[in-house]
Amino acid sequence: MSKDPRVQRLRQVKKEALLGGGEARIEAQHKKKKLTARERLDLLLDKGSFEEMGMLVTHRSNNFGLDKQKYLGDGVVTGSGTIHGRLVYVFSQDFTVFGGSLSEAYAEKIVKIMDHAMRVGAPVIGLNDSGGARIQEGVVSLAGYADIFLRNTTASGVIPQISAILGPCAGGAVYSPAITDFVIMSRGTSYMFVTGPDVVKTVTHEEVTKEELGGAITHATKSGVCHFVAENEIEALEQIKTLLSFIPQNNLEDPPVIDCDDPIDRADEELDSLVPVNPNKPYDIKDVIERVIDHGDFFEVHADYAQNLVVGFARLNGHPVGIVANQPAFLAGVLNIDASVKGARFVRFCDAFNIPLLVFEDVPGFLPGTDQEWGGIIRHGAKLLFAFAEATVPKVTVITRKAYGGAYDVMNSKHIRGDFNYAWPSAEIAVMGAKGATEIIFRKEIAKSDDPEAALEKFTAEFAERFANPYSAAERGYVDDVIETRETRQRLIRAFERLANKVDLNPRKKHGNIPL
Ligand code: HXC
Repeated sequence: MSKDPRVQRLRQVKKEALLGGGEARIEAQHKKKKLTARERLDLLLDKGSFEEMGMLVTHRSNNFGLDKQKYLGDGVVTGSGTIHGRLVYVFSQDFTVFGGSLSEAYAEKIVKIMDHAMRVGAPVIGLNDSGGARIQEGVVSLAGYADIFLRNTTASGVIPQISAILGPCAGGAVYSPAITDFVIMSRGTSYMFVTGPDVVKTVTHEEVTKEELGGAITHATKSGVCHFVAENEIEALEQIKTLLSFIPQNNLEDPPVIDCDDPIDRADEELDSLVPVNPNKPYDIKDVIERVIDHGDFFEVHADYAQNLVVGFARLNGHPVGIVANQPAFLAGVLNIDASVKGARFVRFCDAFNIPLLVFEDVPGFLPGTDQEWGGIIRHGAKLLFAFAEATVPKVTVITRKAYGGAYDVMNSKHIRGDFNYAWPSAEIAVMGAKGATEIIFRKEIAKSDDPEAALEKFTAEFAERFANPYSAAERGYVDDVIETRETRQRLIRAFERLANKVDLNPRKKHGNIPL
């Protein structure tokens, strides 16, 4: 133990900083089933890897007696560390100091680590638990938020940004997480809303609880703001680590490759019978995905939102891929507004971070109806089309069954730069389903017939024979090959191997104008 008073002073100061808002508030935090900012970082980062910055920063406000309440670190713990050996920058908001609310000095701490992360090309992970702008600081706090928003925006597509919401997140505080790439929420202890239930009651006279208005389930199922729901904070931190394992450090690097002991030539005969012969019968596309990828290890994103489209990460021969798949088991796999937006955002993330795209296609088309048309299915559906067309990463499609109408074009078709487009023998590539098509083009013949039902059946069978298969598309090279289902894994691995050095560029521009 050093006797030097200067060293003792340092140790004393640091000990104080470690306590944040003090023991009583730490206890209150634990009572709410929440961890402290530092406990969370201990769980997130490799042991002993945390390099803190700004531990001794304090706020500068004298308003409303704040000069008499100063806490070292000022409500946010910032710095860098490693996760499975990879460098990340982190900030962890400390609810025990003024409810984790954001001051000028606090914002500067976050800005500092974001600037560092951009300079060295490392992901930023934010653990959010905050009452929003520090009310006593007024506009200075709002300015601090804006400084962060600007950095979130300029860093978008350059370094991955991940937000965990582990407590309240009110007011403008929701917009920084919203700009980041992924939002993880802990069930029952986190909330995100622009205004809380009291303001909602005053303005719209709705009575709603915090949980209903902005809890994890609400944002995972209704709004789509939340990509992952965790049962508790520990699971939320684990999800961050898993997510990170699929994505690169920055937009100039490739995603991390791991050793794979799942045989690359593993044939799966059970795949042959997975797609029902009756085209109107559903099946679960996740069964297909899990049979094809390494060890069936699928990390689904947005699992509870727009379930008619499945997106998520997996590996093929140890190489990460981003999967986008229509889900025939939910709304027959139709593309609607929510699915289009969900898919487009995922495709753009993968493209920005050099993650190859794998598409499984079984889609009857876009969802008709006033609800969708008035809601803007045209411009929202266009987002998915735009995202796939714009993407320059390796892009491979497998048509498992229906590829109808505009949805055929959208789902990474050959025409929008699909690199390898395969179809299973069960594929039906056509403008629409056989029955619907027959009812339109043979309407007069069917009406005139003595037995309209038999006529409909006959014309439908003829149409199906001509178009409800992959061969007209294969004749024109719109699919590169019709493959046996059991071979899918090996063909995909080979396709992505061929594409390892793919270079494809879009014309120089400031940015495109995706129909937002
Ligand atoms: C200063 C705050 C604070 C804030 C909480 N505290 N929010 N201090 N500024 N924004 C303090 C409390 O005074 C209290 O201090 C401690 O934090 C814990 O707060 P409690 O209310 O006791 O906790 P709890 O009951 O869990 O409620 C948490 C809460 C609530 C839901 C976050 O505190 C709340 O509604 N706060 C205000 C939220 C808000 O309106 N923020 C401004 C949004 S506008 P003590 O000393 O008792 O421990 C905004 C604009 C940003 O953010 C614009 C950017 C575009």
